[in-house]
Amino acid sequence: MMSDRTLSWLLAIVGGVVLGLTLVALAALLLWPAGPLRGMISAWRFGSNGEQIYFTGTSQRGTAITAVMQPGMGRMRGSRLTCASCHGADGRGGQVQMMMQVVEIPGIRHETLTGDDHGEDEHRHEPYTEQTIRRAITDGVDPAGEPLDWPMPRWSMADEDLDDLVEFLKTLD
Ligand code: HEC
Repeated sequence: MMSDRTLSWLLAIVGGVVLGLTLVALAALLLWPAGPLRGMISAWRFGSNGEQIYFTGTSQRGTAITAVMQPGMGRMRGSRLTCASCHGADGRGGQVQMMMQVVEIPGIRHETLTGDDHGEDEHRHEPYTEQTIRRAITDGVDPAGEPLDWPMPRWSMADEDLDDLVEFLKTLD
């Protein structure tokens, strides 16, 4: 027969194991990048999926978003860059210190890209359309088909995520 003492030890051990497993499961739920809890937390933090993509480079759909850095960015590979880290929280661009040089970042609010005076400066091209904005993000070319400068990564994301992102650019003002 088991003594009361052994029994309470056994209960304590089983209790400890159950508690431990519960904590591990909770932590996994919280840390699982595309997990249901993460989705709920970010849906509450960001008003839209496009906004979340802009600020975090992750989709509420759990679909993958990846960026291929151009050769000049060699050493920054793997770091988590988001649209906001270069183009700014307000999408107005500015100057960013990168690879020991100051890089001029253009504004990418929808209004700026599609405005009549866009492309008047050194890079002459037509104003952007919805289609050419998408192409700039994924293929890194301007409306004239000219490649964008090296700091702009080439992005891969699901079509729906790209739709959401372009919609979000319309809300920046
Ligand atoms: C590491 C910095 C960096 C990140 C991250 C970045 N961009 Fe850019 N982006 C640039 C630079 C620099 C240019 C200008 C390139 C040029 O002038 O040739 C640019 C250009 C663009 C253009 C074309 C603007 C124009 O005037 O021709 C669009 C659209 C754009 N980026 C959208 C995005 C979106 C959307 C994201 C996030 C998914 C993003 N960028 C992330 C640096 C960045």
